[in-house]
Amino acid sequence: MTAPLITNGLINQLQNICGNANVFFDVESLHHYGHDETEKLLYPPDVVVKPTSTKEISQILKYCNENLIPVTPRGAGTGLSGGAIPQNGGVVISTEKLNTILEIDERNLQVTTEPGVITEVLQNAVKEKGLFYPPDPSSRGSCFIGGNISENSGGPKAVKYGVVKDYVLNLEVVLPSGEIIWTGANVLKNSTGYNLTQLIVGSEGTLGIVTKIVLKLIPLPKYDLLMLAPFASLEKASEAVSAIFRAGFTPSAMELVEIDALQIVSKMVDSYVVPIDESIAAHLIVEVDGNNLDVLMSEMEAIAELLNQYEAGEVFFADDAQQKTELWKLRRRTAEAVKLAGYTIEEDTVVPRAELPALIKGVKALGRQHNFHAVCYGHAGDGNLHIRIKKEGIPNSYGNEEMNRILRALFKLVKSLGGTISGEHGIGLIQKDFMHIVFDEANLNIMRSIKKVFDPNNILNPGKIFDL
Ligand code: LAC
Ligand code: ZN
Repeated sequence: MTAPLITNGLINQLQNICGNANVFFDVESLHHYGHDETEKLLYPPDVVVKPTSTKEISQILKYCNENLIPVTPRGAGTGLSGGAIPQNGGVVISTEKLNTILEIDERNLQVTTEPGVITEVLQNAVKEKGLFYPPDPSSRGSCFIGGNISENSGGPKAVKYGVVKDYVLNLEVVLPSGEIIWTGANVLKNSTGYNLTQLIVGSEGTLGIVTKIVLKLIPLPKYDLLMLAPFASLEKASEAVSAIFRAGFTPSAMELVEIDALQIVSKMVDSYVVPIDESIAAHLIVEVDGNNLDVLMSEMEAIAELLNQYEAGEVFFADDAQQKTELWKLRRRTAEAVKLAGYTIEEDTVVPRAELPALIKGVKALGRQHNFHAVCYGHAGDGNLHIRIKKEGIPNSYGNEEMNRILRALFKLVKSLGGTISGEHGIGLIQKDFMHIVFDEANLNIMRSIKKVFDPNNILNPGKIFDL
């Protein structure tokens, strides 16, 4: 790719398309849009533009494509794999002004929305109609639905309800050429040609920019119950996870948080509802939901009994909405807290559920071998473990050879357990060098060919997922 052509011509063009007030090139803006929540990386763009319509995005992409200018699409910037970081400079297209929920279709249980709507805002809007959009990343209070689609996000509810891809019915997408397409139809079943909708989901803004989204909704469950179970060993806690499913239960959340992480987050948010002492290695957070409270109560009791067989300590049942909120706050803010505490490098490993104990054991062994600290937390019910690493003097994995050696060993372990290197955060910038651990060259070549069909000039989010 040739050097970016950032000229007055480009700025004028962007101003003509979007209006002067929506084009930014002051130092503060360039800094803000030069990073996301990934490690401690900063690659400022040359210019930031905030379009207000699909048509404007189409015109920007057409111009940048003709002039070979790199474009990085961006949602709220809460990503954890560097997908929105413009490491080649160029233009950042922020979707923050495309923030309208266009229609809640109560007849068909669907919602049509623009990409810059905050996930929790969308969830609350459909909740008012008695409807439920389950995918709930920890950052749901600030992340955008468009970013969730780009990364195929998950969250705690995924264990029962599935991830973003399971709810996306149809997408309006602007291609790098500026052409605008709808990928599918607003229907629940679709066997009509290649599934372009699902190709765009999780493509990390490398194939097109999503400008409208049609999501499936489900009826909102009436009740949920939450409990917290302490364990003296990580191994027992993780063994208990798969036992719960084998016994026939499907919790609506099944999270594991290591005690070090809980200690750090409790201190940060100044909340001490979770017991923390030296006898505890980890807590499991288990939630069930449904429409029959009696059934849920007996399910909780049965699960608690099962947990006892895995040496759980005294189980704590969250009695009211406030306790539940407090517990979830601790869980949701864990990533932020441990990052602040120096665990800057996060990996998003996922293994078949029953391999979780082997993964955790392997991570701890690697830590001893390579002299790093790791805290683990995440969606244990999905086998999706977030591993946060702290190693003195190494704030970033990207470009650090020593950390890359460690991560190669970690990902080889994950692969040997039948897993893969990202469950819900995406590959983006920082995992792309490890794709060959889980894919053959033939797989990567198919992906590269797909990229070239959509984006022959490699202008859209270049350098993400894989190098061409
Ligand atoms: C979480 C985010 C980091 O599970 O995925 O907290
Ligand atoms: Zn997560």
